[in-house]
Amino acid sequence: MIELIHIEKQFGDTNGRAGDGLLLRRIPGPGSRTRFRNEEDEVRVKNDRTVHAVKDVSLTIEDGDIFGIIGFSGAGKSTLVRCINMLGRPTSGQVIIDGKDMTSLSPKELREARKKIGMIFQHFNLMPSRTVEDNVAFPLKGSGLSKDEIREKVQRLLSLVEISEKAKMYPSQLSGGQKQRVAIARALANDPKILLCDEATSALDPATTASILQLIRRLNRELGLTVVVITHEMAVIKSICNKVAVMEHGVVAESGNVYEIFTEPKEEITKTFIKTTSNVSKVYEFVEQDAEVVRLKPGEVLASLHYKAVTVSEPVITTAARRYNVYLNILFADVEIVEGKSIGDTVCIISGTSEDVSSAIRYIESCNIEVEVIRDARISD
Ligand SMILES: Nc1ncnc2c1ncn2[C@@H]1O[C@H](COP(=O)(O)OP(=O)(O)O)[C@@H](O)[C@H]1O
Ligand SMILES: [Mg+2]
Repeated sequence: MIELIHIEKQFGDTNGRAGDGLLLRRIPGPGSRTRFRNEEDEVRVKNDRTVHAVKDVSLTIEDGDIFGIIGFSGAGKSTLVRCINMLGRPTSGQVIIDGKDMTSLSPKELREARKKIGMIFQHFNLMPSRTVEDNVAFPLKGSGLSKDEIREKVQRLLSLVEISEKAKMYPSQLSGGQKQRVAIARALANDPKILLCDEATSALDPATTASILQLIRRLNRELGLTVVVITHEMAVIKSICNKVAVMEHGVVAESGNVYEIFTEPKEEITKTFIKTTSNVSKVYEFVEQDAEVVRLKPGEVLASLHYKAVTVSEPVITTAARRYNVYLNILFADVEIVEGKSIGDTVCIISGTSEDVSSAIRYIESCNIEVEVIRDARISD
């Protein structure tokens, strides 16, 4: 279990200390920029102003979770996730992993603890002058394993991520998806319990993204790996995460179970992200433009059906049509299965007698589907 307790992270304290509390060497920089450098963090401070990147964040990540952290660029996601493995020390707050406070470990203890936390990045960060197998073997240096044991382990890791045939190649000879597989194998070299993924699919095309996400999910299941996924794409959260925290301006705006957050978003920022995954919002533009597709004949209703049911096992639309003698003409549908439950919207035109249309809507609502009437040409009788 990872417990983040009141995490704060500020960059660029003016006393020559970074927010991580380590003394930094001042390096003269061009113009008004002063560069500080230490082994863990590079901090650029413009006019000595501090940046409050993470503000009072508390989160609990359970073993086996695929925990998503979503936010726009600059929200503080990378800074927060780097606090988990102390790549960047929090200015204040505690990071407790399996009961151990990471902020209070000695350098040696921290090195050991870090081995149990793998990390992958958007740009893979492979060593270009080493082959695939040497990249994966790199973290095993000093592990006490013999050469043969290392070779065997590397083979096992490459086969786990399905890239064995590229063992002798160099990173430049691989596609983005293949590079990320190698990076994952390397991240798993020390048998970590936690995998941190910082925008790991952001440089990949949609099909490759899907295959990498599928791999991460398989590793989560097969190895019991706890995964923290940082992304700016709600589709990523939707496809593999069971929990999510939405970050904005260094703060967690809301967090919880993915299904609940998707069906009952409370904060504007969350709604914004959810809209980006749906094509259904186009209907409002069409209504505004009074486009042909959304013009109604007398008696018709344009409605959006919002699936928020726990399970939708019944063929609701067909049943409504048969039972109430109405037609449901589907204009857009964006219904997906998240955590085994239907979620999303269907926009349709319902036509029939006013009474039948009203009954059909009541029936649909009784199936736990929210019906939003967008345009109404029912004749009042
Ligand atoms: N090393 C650093 N030095 C100074 N400011 C930083 C540093 N890293 C990040 N920041 C600032 O902290 C804020 C959060 O950045 P980051 O955590 O990278 O956001 P995200 O990953 O959500 O895009 C930004 O304003 C960014 O400019
Ligand atoms: Mg980032």
